[in-house]
Amino acid sequence: MAKIHKIGILTSGGDAPGMNAAIRAVTRAAICNGFQPVGIYRGYEGLMNGEFKEFSTENVSGIIGLGGTILKTARSKEFMTEEGKARAYEQMQKAGIQALVVIGGNGSLTGAMDFAREYDVCCIGLPGTIDNDLYGTDSTIGYDTTMNTIMECVDRIRDTAQSHERIFFVEVMGRDAGFLAQNSAIACGAEAAIVPEDMTRADQLARFMEHGIRKSKRSCIVIVSESPKCGALYYADRVRKEFPQFDVRVSILGHLQRGGSPTAHDRILASRTGVGAIEAIIQGQRNVMVGIRNNEIVYVPLSEAIRQDKPFDKKLFKVLDELSI
Ligand code: F6P
Repeated sequence: MAKIHKIGILTSGGDAPGMNAAIRAVTRAAICNGFQPVGIYRGYEGLMNGEFKEFSTENVSGIIGLGGTILKTARSKEFMTEEGKARAYEQMQKAGIQALVVIGGNGSLTGAMDFAREYDVCCIGLPGTIDNDLYGTDSTIGYDTTMNTIMECVDRIRDTAQSHERIFFVEVMGRDAGFLAQNSAIACGAEAAIVPEDMTRADQLARFMEHGIRKSKRSCIVIVSESPKCGALYYADRVRKEFPQFDVRVSILGHLQRGGSPTAHDRILASRTGVGAIEAIIQGQRNVMVGIRNNEIVYVPLSEAIRQDKPFDKKLFKVLDELSI
C-alpha cells in the first residue's frame, strides 16, 4: 500500500448535525500529524468528478456549531457501479490521495467497504447518520441532536393534544430502525411508540388501544417510525375506522429533524471520532469505522458496522410501557 500523504474527506448520504464538527476534526487532526487533508465535495459524486480542494485549518474555522455539511452531500447510484468506482480511483490517483475518511450512514459505509475491497485505498468510516443504525458504536453523529429536536416538537404538539383531547400520531425518521422513535417517545413522555423492531409482537396499535389509553387519559401521543406502508397516516386511518369515538391527528416531522446546530454530545462524538480516524490511519488500520463504545474509541470493521441487525434494547419497551400508564 502506498505511503499515505493526502487524506480525502467526504460526507455522503443524508446530512446529519455534527458532520461539520467531524470535517473540522479530521482536517485539524490530519494537519497536526503531517498529512494534507483534501475536502471532497458532493460525496462520492465529487470523488468521481474530481471536486477536490486542499484544506488548511482556516477552511474549517467557525463550523463546529453548524448543521448540514459544508462539503455538501449526495446519494450516488453511479458510485455503486464498477465504472463509477474505477472513475473515483482514477481521480484519486491523479490528485495523489491515498486514503479516504467517509462520514455517513449505512449506504455510504457500504460504498466505502466495496471500494476498499476492489482498490488499494484505505477507507476509514465515521458514523454520520441521525438513524443510529450502525453497529459497534453506542451512538451516531446526529442522533442526539435529532432526538432533542423531536422532543422539542412533541412537547409543543402535546399542548394541542391535551387542549383538544386528541390522539396524535407523530411520525419520525429512522428508515428501517426504531431507535429515534423508541427513545424520543421515552424522552417526550409519549404514551406509545410503534417501531419496526416490534413488528413480531401482536398488532402494536391494538395493544396500545387496549393498554395504552387509560379511561382517565383523554389525549395521547404515539410516536411512529416512518414506513412507506405503516406510517402515522396508516395508524390514524385505522383509529378513525376502528375507534371513531377518538379525535385523531397526524404530524409528520420530516426533514426538520435533520437540520440545526448539533448538541454538545454530537460535537464531542464527532470531534473524538474525527481524531480517532487519523489515529487509525497512523496505526495502519484499514477499512474500519471509528465509533465510541462505553466511552472508549473503538475500531469496527466496516463489514460489521453495516450489519442490518444492530441490537435494539428490548427493555426499552418495558420502560415506555410502565411509564405511560
Ligand atoms: O438516513 C437518514 C434519513 O433521514 C432517514 O431517516 C430517512 O429515511 C432518509 O434519510 C430520508 O432521505 P432523503 O432526505 O434522501 O429523503
